[in-house]
Amino acid sequence: MQKTNINIKLYDKSYVYGLGDKAKFLNHMGYEFISYNTDDPTPQNEQYKSLYKSINYLLINHNTTKYYGIFYPSTFKTYFNIAKDKFDLLNISSLKGENDFFLILGNDPNSITRSYSSLVGRPIMPTLKMLGNQQSRWSYYDENEVREIARKYRELKIPLDFIHLDIDYMDNFKDFTFNKERFPNISKLSEDLEKMGLGLVTILDAGIKEEQEYEVYDYLINNDLVCTLDNAPYVNEVWPGRSVFPNFMNEKTQEYFKGLTKKWLLEQKVKGIWCDMNEPASFKGPLPDNVEAKANDKIIYHDEFHNVYGESMVKGVSSAFKELNKRPYVITRAAFATTTKYSICWNGDNQSLWSHLQLSLPQICSMGISGFPFDGVDVGGFNFDATDELLTRFIEANVFAPFLRNHSACGSIHQEPWCFSQACLNTYRKMVNLRYQFIPYMYDLAYKAHIDGTPILRPLFYNFPFDENVKEINDEVMLGDNVLLAPILTQGSRSRSLYLPEGKWINYFTHEEYEGGKEYLLHLELGEIGLFIKKGSIIPTYKDLMYLEKNQIDTLIFDARYGDGEYINYEDDGESFSYLEGHYNLYKVKVDGDNISLEVLKNDYKSPYKKIVVITNTTTHEIKI
Ligand code: GLC
Repeated sequence: MQKTNINIKLYDKSYVYGLGDKAKFLNHMGYEFISYNTDDPTPQNEQYKSLYKSINYLLINHNTTKYYGIFYPSTFKTYFNIAKDKFDLLNISSLKGENDFFLILGNDPNSITRSYSSLVGRPIMPTLKMLGNQQSRWSYYDENEVREIARKYRELKIPLDFIHLDIDYMDNFKDFTFNKERFPNISKLSEDLEKMGLGLVTILDAGIKEEQEYEVYDYLINNDLVCTLDNAPYVNEVWPGRSVFPNFMNEKTQEYFKGLTKKWLLEQKVKGIWCDMNEPASFKGPLPDNVEAKANDKIIYHDEFHNVYGESMVKGVSSAFKELNKRPYVITRAAFATTTKYSICWNGDNQSLWSHLQLSLPQICSMGISGFPFDGVDVGGFNFDATDELLTRFIEANVFAPFLRNHSACGSIHQEPWCFSQACLNTYRKMVNLRYQFIPYMYDLAYKAHIDGTPILRPLFYNFPFDENVKEINDEVMLGDNVLLAPILTQGSRSRSLYLPEGKWINYFTHEEYEGGKEYLLHLELGEIGLFIKKGSIIPTYKDLMYLEKNQIDTLIFDARYGDGEYINYEDDGESFSYLEGHYNLYKVKVDGDNISLEVLKNDYKSPYKKIVVITNTTTHEIKI
């Protein structure tokens, strides 16, 4: 007998969106989901009821114009039957959760998302560099391979900001250790990469190897800081073999991990931490419901803490960055609704499949409207072998994914851009360059997301909530309010239909003007994407950057070739918390025919810019700073 039973009426023309990372298109009508953080690496599809994250937030639209949000805050396993058994009913049920839920009202998706975001907490403010391109593989075998990846990126002039080290850098998969033969000196490696403008990110797994005289294991056991069953440490298997699970419900464990992370960041000079297997994943069956975690004098059972285990892990890790006055660069696979305050996410183990390319944009958009604006998928696909064409179309579609990382599994073919044809490599470079041009615009969106939860990458219905034609568009996305991306997502296709919402749109590449509210046929060869700028937009851009470091950037260019308009651009140091003390700048640019004005609305950060340029269709206006 379910304890909670919440029934909500749906209609023929209802659309139900949200729920975070589900492996499917945007609209969830007709499906059932279970919030229970799950690591299942087989090819995920729309019939998968559970994935890595449990974000119990739904955005519902019915009768064309009415939108509202529902947040069910329970951490217990929760079932969402969304018009699956009864076409007009949404049923939320759970064995142990309470009946209370939040009904979030507002006029449109954005006002609802903003209210929801104030409830669960604002997303972290990323560093500027985190918007950069990232390269990963399970695993780069040794430090020479890592240096070679860095060298190749620079030689081939593809912008890159981070390289990730997967589990094989460790000594026998033990957290906070490294393999002394293959990675004899990580701090030196970090330093050398830093000179090339690159940061090193290392993975951290939740399970701790059961091994005496391994410092982390000993500390956790001696201080009674692991999850237990029948009064003994609970053991299951993960990458290191037999492993225990830190009791992250206990603040002392979080403090301990904070300390370890801080030391790791300082000593190894690593720039980011990638938290994985924190659902928690376990190879010998799921953890039993009655596994215990003691927090203060209370015992919390696994069925209650499971969905927040990942969050409790990243909380400690993230606070290490804060203590060093650094914005956290923490990525997590498992998450609960409130995790957005501590970490960014990626969507786990996708595959090199066309169907997974098609899911990448709706998945990132669903995460965005569910309070996680900073998200991405493994570009090229994690498992299986990417093909030349698939990688080409993957990077095209994900060019504006807030978190952009190429990552692939051991056993699959190498997926770095130069492992494919020259044409694929050229496209990769072209797309990453394009992204780097749009970085100041993306950074504005990241700041907005941090302030009020507004997503960076959005489904079209988010920006045009009353247009019936866009409610189920899964293959076009908006980057902010002004940029529309329409990539090719099908093997062999060289054309696609394109719907442009109301207004006038300018093709970024051809400068042709299109009338909105209509459908078009778009011809796109390999290496080409549909990219449309809303008429009257002004886009802040950078030029010719190989990596993102604030003090290296001397020119800000406002691209105002899309008609008269105005725009406010935000600037800060891109890494510290001083923006919270008001140390940031705001530039307002206005174009009205031949009149161009640039006003500095706020000037409380010493900018490295030497000049600001405004480009219109007829003139280039340069302002020295
Ligand atoms: C998990 C992660 C994947 C990683 C692998 C090895 O499957 O999702 O990204 O490469 O573990 O650490």
